[in-house]
Amino acid sequence: MKNAYLQIEQSLELSGDVSLVGAKNAVLVIMSSLLLTSGKSRLKNVPASADVLHMIRLLEELGAQVTFVQDEHILEIDTLGVNKWQVNPDIMKKMRASILVMGPLLARFGRADIAMPGGCVLGARPIDYHLKNFAKMGVKIQEEGHFLHAQVDELIPGKIVLEYPSVGATENIMMAAALVKGTTRIINAALEPELLDLIAVLKKMGAQITIDPPAMLVIDGVDELLPITHEIISDRLEAGSLLLAAAITGGEVNLPQAPAYALDVFLLKLEEMGHSITVGKNDVGIHLKATDSPHAVSFKTGPYPGFPTDLQAPMMALQCLAEGTSTIEETVFENRLVHAHELQKMGAQINVEGNKALVTGVEELYGAHVIASDIRASCALVLAGLVAKGTTIMTGIPHWQRGYEALEKKLAALGANIRLHAQVNRHLKFLHREGEMPTQDV
Ligand code: EPU
Repeated sequence: MKNAYLQIEQSLELSGDVSLVGAKNAVLVIMSSLLLTSGKSRLKNVPASADVLHMIRLLEELGAQVTFVQDEHILEIDTLGVNKWQVNPDIMKKMRASILVMGPLLARFGRADIAMPGGCVLGARPIDYHLKNFAKMGVKIQEEGHFLHAQVDELIPGKIVLEYPSVGATENIMMAAALVKGTTRIINAALEPELLDLIAVLKKMGAQITIDPPAMLVIDGVDELLPITHEIISDRLEAGSLLLAAAITGGEVNLPQAPAYALDVFLLKLEEMGHSITVGKNDVGIHLKATDSPHAVSFKTGPYPGFPTDLQAPMMALQCLAEGTSTIEETVFENRLVHAHELQKMGAQINVEGNKALVTGVEELYGAHVIASDIRASCALVLAGLVAKGTTIMTGIPHWQRGYEALEKKLAALGANIRLHAQVNRHLKFLHREGEMPTQDV
């Protein structure tokens, strides 16, 4: 829906109970991990987001048979017929997570042909940690323009040291190592909750993986991995987005499935703002009642268990209207403050310097035409639109749809006045022509 837009009117005090879908960042890598098996697996709680549909197409083109019952969130993938290792470059350009099939393809075929991945524009986002460490495992990588041909006779186990706990690189190396004879150790591994869900899946398949403190994964390769049935963990980022929607509008929301155990620092910051948070038994389930006089808080993103970079943009929207000044530091991605400029169009007072944003709370935000530049930026702009005076029009909808399954419907069920229009209407087309609102490339 490249020409679609969201129309958002001021909608105060959103309230109600919401159920969550499965985590996008868990399901994408878990779908990819099924390439390590040969047969039919069944995934439950799968969100029907655009990235999941991209990954389905990618797997189908490699020879997998896929059935997705979207209403029931059940995805069946049969990998018996997978017979190709050449990944469609068009899909790779659309979605960075396509790189995650590289490890499984190398383990299965000893070969993987890929293009440089695309996805959100969050800085350079290289894949050097993936490539360097595959090379350490014996993979020969040949570059041909934007294409990479990777080949190995037998993957070599050993010690892999990550200079940064990259989520994708940890996942890719771990998946490849699961079928390599011998022991592979990944030092300074990422331990994001979505990655732990992948470990749970690999173990169900028969893999031998242990986590040694503080952040080492020990993988003892096995000869074969078997198909599985698995329910994807609830999406902590959808949970965070809904909590913020209730908080910014002065409402109250209850998320019975929310993984509170995966959101500790984020919840701490919401409490520091003055919002009241109650967590359910075993750290699952979150209830938020908003304060009517929120204080600004400062925070800095970091690898798990730090403040999640994927909630930085939406949390910034709240700081725009909080009392006081907030300093927000983005340390995970080099260019993830683009939404600040769009929030400024709505009246926010934000100064960006390098990877820091200084936000001074204002009395009111105003509706404007804004453009989403990545998945989480789209959420920030929608949240601001919910409290802004007047109408907010947001384009860049492919980003919104890559990350969320119809979140606008969940917000509407809580009382939000938000509508997704499939086509840019005449008024907006006029603005396009005038150059006031450029169309956005995905
Ligand atoms: N990096 C490198 N070289 C690499 C790999 C990463 O320099 O080879 C850098 C990146 O450029 C970035 C940092 O390391 O600055 C962290 O990247 P990481 O590899 O950890 O992220 P990712 O695997 O590409 C996943 C999520 C992101 C999420 C990050 C961090 C998926 C499909 N994507 O990306 O999700 O922000 O981890 O938690 O799992 C989103 O959902 O909106 C999203 C962007």
